[in-house]
Amino acid sequence: MAKRHPIIAGNWKMYKTVSEARDYAVKLLEKVGDITEVDVVICAPFTALSTLKDELEESIVHLGAQNMSWALEGAYTGEISPKMLTDLACTYVVLGHSERRELMRETDEDIAKKVKLALSSGLIPILCVGENLTQREGGRALGIVRGQVERDLADLSAEELARVVIAYEPIWAIGTGKTASSQDAQDMCAGIRSTLAGIAGSVADEVKILYGGSVKPDNIAELMSKPDIDGALVGGASLDPDGFSKLIMNAIEGVRK
Ligand code: PGA
Repeated sequence: MAKRHPIIAGNWKMYKTVSEARDYAVKLLEKVGDITEVDVVICAPFTALSTLKDELEESIVHLGAQNMSWALEGAYTGEISPKMLTDLACTYVVLGHSERRELMRETDEDIAKKVKLALSSGLIPILCVGENLTQREGGRALGIVRGQVERDLADLSAEELARVVIAYEPIWAIGTGKTASSQDAQDMCAGIRSTLAGIAGSVADEVKILYGGSVKPDNIAELMSKPDIDGALVGGASLDPDGFSKLIMNAIEGVRK
């Protein structure tokens, strides 16, 4: 089987105006504009996507959104369709982030509909899954994550499943400075892969699984050296272009380990 090409994706969350996004793109391309060892993705707020499309066009950096509607178009005030995202040159979309599950009450049913629609619209979903601290301390982390994977990827063909990217993000590690140990992250990513194998057999080996939660320039190499971790979804540490470039370079070192 061909080796899975790693992905380092920045999730800007609700940060950066259009002019800040433009400055960032220029600085990022100066530092990592010609790397090929990992795929770099910036998942930006909707308002910055058009500017980033112009700045990043023809570059190695891919563009992503952080959410989308489960409908293609219609009377859904305030929603954004996947068609609008592909029109802005997005190739990725983050779906089911824990902040949306918890704060916006998104359900597995909503997320499953979005994953299916993203795929049929030509977008690559980055599906986020992960347990909270109570669930981890109660020894239920793997069961919780398995359940999310099974429900959110229900009804996909093997060919569709192969195009999904999964981000394992333990909720207690997001924005807290507490990273899961690289071994715990590896164990969960391996657990996710075995769940996928149960659903779709050998296709599981093609699916890219990222780790997210307080990933920093100084812990990325160790995470990347693990066999089932194919990259990272990075929040806070993606906001500064110099720091994010350093993280990308360290990720490449980790892959080589
Ligand atoms: P963090 O966020 O890197 O700031 O912990 C990760 C995420 O929420 O995707």
